[in-house]
Amino acid sequence: MSDNGEQDRRQTPSPGHILSTFRLLIVAERHLGTKLTGILSPFGYHVTCIDDPNVARQTIGLMPPDLLILSGNFPKEESWNILRAVRTDRITQQLPVLMFFHSIDSENEVRAFQYGVDEIVDSSSQDIAIRARVRVLLRISAYRRRIENEKRRLELRVQERTKELMEITFSTVAALEKAAEFSDHETGQHMNRVAEYSCVLARELDLGSELIEKIRVYAPLHDVGKVGISHDILKKEGILSADEFEEMKRHTVLGYELLKAARADPVACNIALCHHERFDGSGYPNHLQANEIPIEARIVSVADVFDALITKRHYKQAMRPDMAFLCITSEMKNHFDANVLRAFAVRFDEIRDIWARLDGTLGG
Ligand SMILES: [Fe+2]
Ligand SMILES: [Fe+2]
Repeated sequence: MSDNGEQDRRQTPSPGHILSTFRLLIVAERHLGTKLTGILSPFGYHVTCIDDPNVARQTIGLMPPDLLILSGNFPKEESWNILRAVRTDRITQQLPVLMFFHSIDSENEVRAFQYGVDEIVDSSSQDIAIRARVRVLLRISAYRRRIENEKRRLELRVQERTKELMEITFSTVAALEKAAEFSDHETGQHMNRVAEYSCVLARELDLGSELIEKIRVYAPLHDVGKVGISHDILKKEGILSADEFEEMKRHTVLGYELLKAARADPVACNIALCHHERFDGSGYPNHLQANEIPIEARIVSVADVFDALITKRHYKQAMRPDMAFLCITSEMKNHFDANVLRAFAVRFDEIRDIWARLDGTLGG
């Protein structure tokens, strides 16, 4: 029973070992099944033989083998039905199939390949030829399985890395939030309120749960770049000079660079960089207009200005919320996205409640 394939197997034990762990399912009439089992079993394959097409269909779906050896000689359409079932089931779609015929005519040949058979063999083929074909198909099966495993491993790795990055960003956000709260309670509260208003607006605009959550988490970081601005300018009483204002504007770019360096999510970076851009192009730092400004920044922009107007600062009095609403939706309306302003109007009561809850001192 020796042939070149067997010699190959003995000389290179590694592939032989791999092949011998494969499970072959032979679905064939009894005499062909017995013959094929006799040819293949001595080589260490786990061979299962079924001669009932109905039983075969159930078995393949439940315990897909590494190679299906299928007789094309079953009466009626049985062989083709099995083949169709294999190729339409997501789990067995890629299963290698070797098909046997008493004799191969062109009609069978064309039909078999149209149905996705990998190889066809004449029942009268030599043992060595049958084993060689089985070996080739099992190698293909092994490569497919290896690729599938590698794909799964990479997908898992990507998921893990994504989770790690989210965790890094979240801890950065938490640390920066805390730093701001410790250095300035008023600023800390402002950040929280802007986050909550922004979240309400994002929900009203139906931006999808993932983006809404990102806006809620990253909106507090809109002014994170102020850590790079001189304390004298941040705390100056009275109006800033032109130069000081130019310096203050840099907090957008500084925040963006800081978050980018921390590998923060693009939503966080966009908010930091673009929250002072205006819809009519009169904002800073890049004079973006309309939809050039990312939606997350268009939202935070409304939330930020509203909160600034109704908050008392050392250089100005607080405005009443209803007055601030009027100001934003009328004289300042060109600064903002009309859709965001609509959401602001629809959810204004809720936004005013957030202010009351997180501050407790309605403007005035
Ligand atoms: Fe800002
Ligand atoms: Fe702000």
